[in-house]
Amino acid sequence: MPGIIKEERIGGQRLILGDCLEVMPLLGKVDAVVTDPPYGIGEAAGKNKSRGKLAVAVDYGDLEWDNEPCPPKALSLMRHCGNLQIIWGGNFFDLPPTSCYLVWDKMNGKTDFADCELAWTNLKQAVRLIKWQWNGMIRKGHEPRCHPTQKPLGVMKWCLEHLPDSQTILDPFMGSGTTGVACANLGRKFIGIEIEEKYFDIACKRIDQAQRQGQLFQPEKPKAEQLDTHTYMTNTVPPERRETASPYPKTLVGKLAGR
Ligand SMILES: C[S@@+](CC[C@H](N)C(=O)[O-])C[C@H]1O[C@@H](n2cnc3c(N)ncnc32)[C@H](O)[C@@H]1O
Repeated sequence: MPGIIKEERIGGQRLILGDCLEVMPLLGKVDAVVTDPPYGIGEAAGKNKSRGKLAVAVDYGDLEWDNEPCPPKALSLMRHCGNLQIIWGGNFFDLPPTSCYLVWDKMNGKTDFADCELAWTNLKQAVRLIKWQWNGMIRKGHEPRCHPTQKPLGVMKWCLEHLPDSQTILDPFMGSGTTGVACANLGRKFIGIEIEEKYFDIACKRIDQAQRQGQLFQPEKPKAEQLDTHTYMTNTVPPERRETASPYPKTLVGKLAGR
């Protein structure tokens, strides 16, 4: 299909490698778009590594996707695809006035990092705030850091809590797949699009792991004819062998576990 370079189905989740400007027009309507597009402030191209003082900074290489902000065409496609939208970095983009920003207080202390990040939404409610420390030695959450602008899982789950009736969520700027992991944890369907293959692979791995963990807590088994490869593996392969049975590259397993 034009625009879709590769596609993976992991349980109920659909992960697409491709340019979201080409892929979004091929998708039907979703209940909500929850995303974190490039802000255009150069965070990916090494800015992060120069500012961390509280912990060893990670160099993710010289990627340039954050040199330009999310294109207006992507914003308009996102607004068309989903009835509800939560768009991180909304203060950098040309979006209409709203009553509801979601505010993430990063508890950065006295650094030159921003104190907060803002998500523009079209929710009919008041501004809401979450405090979630993400940098330094006492950061909250235990997930590995594998993307230069990765969002905390807890913050993305909090976003989904503002969308209790949205069953299918689209993230057209998926990165390492944090929105998809939050969806897997909360039993929502997810469609993710990512242009960089290395982040696409990491997202597949993370979402696969999250799906398997979720499956372990589900008492009911699906009927045999409904089993896909992933579900088959989860239901039949003993837990100690599941990592080796994963269809995603072993190198990524090592990378994710090593951080
Ligand atoms: C801010 S990051 C998202 C990080 C993500 N929230 C996470 O937790 O890992 C934006 C991502 O959008 C991707 N991207 C940039 N332009 C894109 C495009 N046109 N189509 C799809 N993905 C794109 C970049 O490669 C980058 O991984």
